[in-house]
Amino acid sequence: MYTKQTPLENVMQQASLQVKDERPSLPASLTRQTVTSVHHWTDRLFHFRITRPADFRFRSGEFVMIGLELKPGKPLLRAYSIANPSWDEELEFFSIKVPNGPLTAHLQKIEPGDEVVLGRKPTGTLVLDALVPGSRLYLFSTGTGIAPFASLVRDPETYEKFDKVILTHTCRQVSELAYGLDLVAKTREDPLVGEFAADKLIHYPSVTQEPYERQGRITTLIESGQLFDELGLPPFDPAQDRIMICGSMAMLQDTKALAEKAGLTEGSNAQPAEFLIEKAFVG
Ligand code: A2P
Repeated sequence: MYTKQTPLENVMQQASLQVKDERPSLPASLTRQTVTSVHHWTDRLFHFRITRPADFRFRSGEFVMIGLELKPGKPLLRAYSIANPSWDEELEFFSIKVPNGPLTAHLQKIEPGDEVVLGRKPTGTLVLDALVPGSRLYLFSTGTGIAPFASLVRDPETYEKFDKVILTHTCRQVSELAYGLDLVAKTREDPLVGEFAADKLIHYPSVTQEPYERQGRITTLIESGQLFDELGLPPFDPAQDRIMICGSMAMLQDTKALAEKAGLTEGSNAQPAEFLIEKAFVG
């Protein structure tokens, strides 16, 4: 049915047609997306969610370039793990705030409605496809290294492939565990994966620089045997155990050395094997 426009509606329609994006276009590998929510966990940590392009596909555990157009058309980008599972309608990222960090000094100020720049091509090694079959999956993380695992523990495929999923998260301070504690609590209640997670997901947090119910670096907890004793599990077994590691370069190297000492072999997308590390975030 044709409805006659009032003169005011007519003027408004004309005006909206004339509002054009005057900014320089971005390279074809990037898109502009809108921030939908932001949550600050501590003065050093926050997560944010953004709109997801309809054609944006990724495998749980992958990372993508994210940034801000500090100068129009010239975005400053960093690699960020996608923290939501692949079925989520939005994209989630967990970030540190570096006071003078070129990107995070600005990124920490974003609010719903703001724009961020998103790469079109996610990639990464912390994916289920890069592991050979096993029965237990250890996800070892420190600090914001929990982000790719926040994706994997919410993916039903993780529980199809493994009988036990052990998510460890070590931080300097107790307050920095909050994102992981919330993640695990929500995952256990999630309508899609909650039932599997309640049965199979084990959360193993520890703190290194203040008192907590469990203290120590994950490497120390592995070497002393405390991890296995507390979980009632045997030491690493190359036939049963699969491992993914995400943290600082030092943490990656030290944890990788323990996996290798136990006889596990490092895998990749091209050559799936028994443990995986992601080096994209460390310098
Ligand atoms: P620690 O406090 O003993 O250094 P960061 O913020 O420096 O990345 O550290 C995050 C967590 O990772 C901290 O609890 C820290 O412990 C721990 N960590 C740092 N280096 C290593 C390492 N080489 N192996 C295992 N854990 C580490």
